[in-house]
Amino acid sequence: MNIKIKKADHPLSGTLSFPGDKSLSHRAIIFGALAEGESHFTNVLTAEDCVCTRKAFEALGVEIRSNGSTGLTIKGRGLHALKSPAHEIYLGNSGTAMRLLMGVLAGNPLEALLTGDPSLSSRPMRRVTDYLKRMGASFEGKDNANFAPIKVKGGKLKAIDAKLGIPSAQVKSAILLAGLYAQGKTSVTEPAKSRDHTERFLKYFGARIEEKGLTVSIRGGQRLKAGSFEIAGDISSAAFFMAMALLVPASGITFESILDNPTRTGIIEALGKMGAHFGNKRRRAQEGPENVSNFSLKAQPLKAFEIRKAQIPSLIDEIPILSVMATQANGTSVIYDADELRVKETDRIHSMVTQLSNMGAKIRSEGNTIIIDGPTALTGAEVDSFKDHRTAMSLIVAGLLADGETRVRDLDCIYTSFPNFFELLKKAGARYELY
Ligand code: S3P
Repeated sequence: MNIKIKKADHPLSGTLSFPGDKSLSHRAIIFGALAEGESHFTNVLTAEDCVCTRKAFEALGVEIRSNGSTGLTIKGRGLHALKSPAHEIYLGNSGTAMRLLMGVLAGNPLEALLTGDPSLSSRPMRRVTDYLKRMGASFEGKDNANFAPIKVKGGKLKAIDAKLGIPSAQVKSAILLAGLYAQGKTSVTEPAKSRDHTERFLKYFGARIEEKGLTVSIRGGQRLKAGSFEIAGDISSAAFFMAMALLVPASGITFESILDNPTRTGIIEALGKMGAHFGNKRRRAQEGPENVSNFSLKAQPLKAFEIRKAQIPSLIDEIPILSVMATQANGTSVIYDADELRVKETDRIHSMVTQLSNMGAKIRSEGNTIIIDGPTALTGAEVDSFKDHRTAMSLIVAGLLADGETRVRDLDCIYTSFPNFFELLKKAGARYELY
């Protein structure tokens, strides 16, 4: 699927709520499956990535029922009653699904073959498998279990003290999940804090953890109890509409029930530094491990920004759309140390620099630093998603700002994270044609 989209010639507006956050939806399925008792979740993301996690746990013997379009009831089997899968477990495009599942499987006396699509099969897995091997699990795959397909053989684990070289919630979560099965106290120390959803879920589902600075520790031998809550709206999906609200002249969009977690709100802080005014901001505590916020944004001029290494984890998935915003902001924006973008669903430094350049943006990379001069009038062009959902949606937003017509190729990837993206785009008033 491809899109033809023209510069927006009228304001975008509306009150929008978003599908469940992707990171939370994966974890709801995982924790629901491993808890004792029945968990009920609403507003679960039904995108392909999370469907892969659901199918993986169904293959491991967990009964999962849909309630309506976004509700899930999960009959947890407890930590120790997963069944051997009858076939390989296919995890599509999802790094989170594969890496967190590795942590769970490491502690179970089962064998499983984990596979993925070509993008996932080229993403580094040793960042997880090396630690889990140290704990006692066995992994086989190309380049010392760095690339899927990977065969996992779980079993008895011992605790480790892991010092991560990069901040990564996926690596941290895999080790903490394995830590639930290990004998002794497992600790993970990150060089900077990554999203803390796993820590919050562990506590909410009844496990005790210790958090000291950048170190999280967990003792093995604990049990998880079922829980029920609504999944907060995905802030990373909402970010595309935040950009549209701020950049399409005279627009105004109200955002409802957006995940509000300080390890994920780097985009809100960055927009604040660009001068964005958040109207009617209201924070709400929710039943469950996370909070949500409502706010509104109106079109306004934006200033350039700088993002440094320590902030990267809190907005790692929003860098593609921030790059689009930087083309319209006044001054030179710089994003330092974006190394991890090289190993996402595609190399997002390459995808954004090349495709926005095709649209006339003044954007370049120096090593892993991205430098963008603005404001620049973008011009419509034919550009490519590189089969990466966040590149695809960022370029569609750029298309709404560019003179003439933009065509973005290869958009099926959007269904990995944001199944109703086009519906919301239409609801906000954008005109486009899919072909
Ligand atoms: C995720 C963690 C992030 C993020 C990904 C989801 C998670 O990856 O990019 O989209 O749910 O744990 P890393 O923390 O590995 O960088």
